[in-house]
Amino acid sequence: MGAAPRPGVRADLSENAFCRDLLAGLSRSPKAVAPKYFYDAEGSALFDRICELPEYYPTRTERRILEQHGREIAEVVGPQADIVEFGAGSLEKIRIVLRSFEARALPRRYFPIDISATHLEEAARRLHAECPWLQVRPVAADYMQESQLSALDASTGRRVGFFPGSTIGNFEEPEALAFLRLAARLLEGGGLLVGVDLVKDPHTLHRAYNDAQGVTAAFNLNVLRRANAELSADFDLREFAHYAFYDPRKHRIEMHLLSRCAQTVHVAGQSFRFEEGESLHTENSHKFTIEGFRKLAVSAGFRPGPVWTDEARLFSVHWLESPAGGARASR
Ligand code: AVI
Repeated sequence: MGAAPRPGVRADLSENAFCRDLLAGLSRSPKAVAPKYFYDAEGSALFDRICELPEYYPTRTERRILEQHGREIAEVVGPQADIVEFGAGSLEKIRIVLRSFEARALPRRYFPIDISATHLEEAARRLHAECPWLQVRPVAADYMQESQLSALDASTGRRVGFFPGSTIGNFEEPEALAFLRLAARLLEGGGLLVGVDLVKDPHTLHRAYNDAQGVTAAFNLNVLRRANAELSADFDLREFAHYAFYDPRKHRIEMHLLSRCAQTVHVAGQSFRFEEGESLHTENSHKFTIEGFRKLAVSAGFRPGPVWTDEARLFSVHWLESPAGGARASR
């Protein structure tokens, strides 16, 4: 039997994770909501636009690193690998990686994991049409939930994880560690290729999250639009302002939505008061030093290998080996 709905919450929403988390986050002080809720179809499209913005350096810098160091990357991945991509999205960066392999060493299977099943099936079909030699096996799942990853049992070869884009920076440290530990277990005997954004001049960071066209602002506000569409909420998007800044002590960009006035909003039948200037904290984007990230990887059971960066040291791509037996030992 399911739990009884919270008083005042529509029965059909009581099992909805976004609803549950947003209600809990609005009841806390300071108010917060997890960044994973940005990514409905509209949020994902806005994120794709962010990746092409002149101010948002991570995507194009990482692409360039993957292109320039493709041969070395193909070497550490090894021949006939089974590649597992965590949070695969549009399967765009894996194409760059695949182009670097010689014909005799091509990966054998590719397991893109993503929460959005429809988007994933279509993207997987297109990739297989381009690379008919690759067995593409989409896994519609939350990659943080090991119980949803049984489809990976079909991977019998050397497993190599791919986690580009510095998504790891959107986790808090315990969550990042939990993800790396899970990845180290899943990839035992293989390794993980992971993109990590680096600590740098605060102005470059500030510009990347405060673009002139306002795409990041629209992306941030999208979580409220999504709540209105899915959770019978009544956020007035004009009454919230995008606010992003770099905290050099915490090495992170913080994104918030600031209430422009004192107001009451309703979500799934419950009321929440915002004071003027009060924040809803929507995202942290942590930036790492190379050494700091390698230490984190070691504490999760990985053995750090080569790291590739661009000339300006804006971004890094790390190869982390997961020695057979090592991940179990670090648990
Ligand atoms: C997905 N993630 C790595 C992005 C970042 O830079 O933290 C999300 C993002 N938020 C604002 N702009 C981009």
